[in-house]
Amino acid sequence: MADSKTTIRSLMSKYKAGEKLVAITAYDALQAKILDPFVDIILVGDSLGMTALGYATTLEVTIEQSLHHTAAVSRGIGQAFLVGDMPFMTFGINDDESIRNAGRYLKESGAQAVKLEGGQKAAPLIRKMVSLGIPVMGHIGLLPQHVNSDGGYHVHGKEPHEASALMDDAKSLEEAGVFSIVIEGVPADLGVKITDSVNVPTIGIGAGAGCSGQIQVLSDILGMDADFKPQHARQYADLADIISGAIDAYATDIRSGEFPSDKESFK
Ligand code: KIV
Repeated sequence: MADSKTTIRSLMSKYKAGEKLVAITAYDALQAKILDPFVDIILVGDSLGMTALGYATTLEVTIEQSLHHTAAVSRGIGQAFLVGDMPFMTFGINDDESIRNAGRYLKESGAQAVKLEGGQKAAPLIRKMVSLGIPVMGHIGLLPQHVNSDGGYHVHGKEPHEASALMDDAKSLEEAGVFSIVIEGVPADLGVKITDSVNVPTIGIGAGAGCSGQIQVLSDILGMDADFKPQHARQYADLADIISGAIDAYATDIRSGEFPSDKESFK
């Protein structure tokens, strides 16, 4: 557990000391308050679309929704490093708009950095953001915002030419100045190769144990959606079951007149 506020410098010190970085997603203040003592990085991912807003993909998430939830998380956070995730079409159309949008995370939501999806093509834009003082976390491999152009969600980098393109992506992001790179959905041996080829921490999700750290979507590891259990996630709790049991008992107590009792009433 850390006591002082996590910064890029303290993340880099841990990385250089060979400590694994622990990252997790969160979407509201109460979640952030619970997670904060245990993790280095909290990302308000655009997985917000599915985990909190009921959308089928991340594509529908707007910058206002993302900023709103990032600000909520920042109010619950203590020491962890906070990253806001730039939604689909809020970057990449033109540099001015992209940079202004990235700046909003730091100015309006309490985020210390932004994450954006993309490799070599995103590097020139990322370089500009970094030069203006906006720390950027890269994201390569499976890019959920490319679900339509990629024809679904699948493991990337299985073919030699794809693996070498991902190595190039990581190198260009490092050269552009990212402070870390999320690697999603690639074979474990490629996760190691990419990690060994760059001097910034890699944060894996479905990219094997060889990355410098790991990130998971909170609701996946807490078992909040009984209908969605991705292979890359280990389920540490069955919250859907626990919450159902609690609400079932609550409803039963109200219907039977058991709740509230004298103890829960005022004289
Ligand atoms: O949106 C998200 O939660 C993410 C993580 C899975 C890395 O991008």
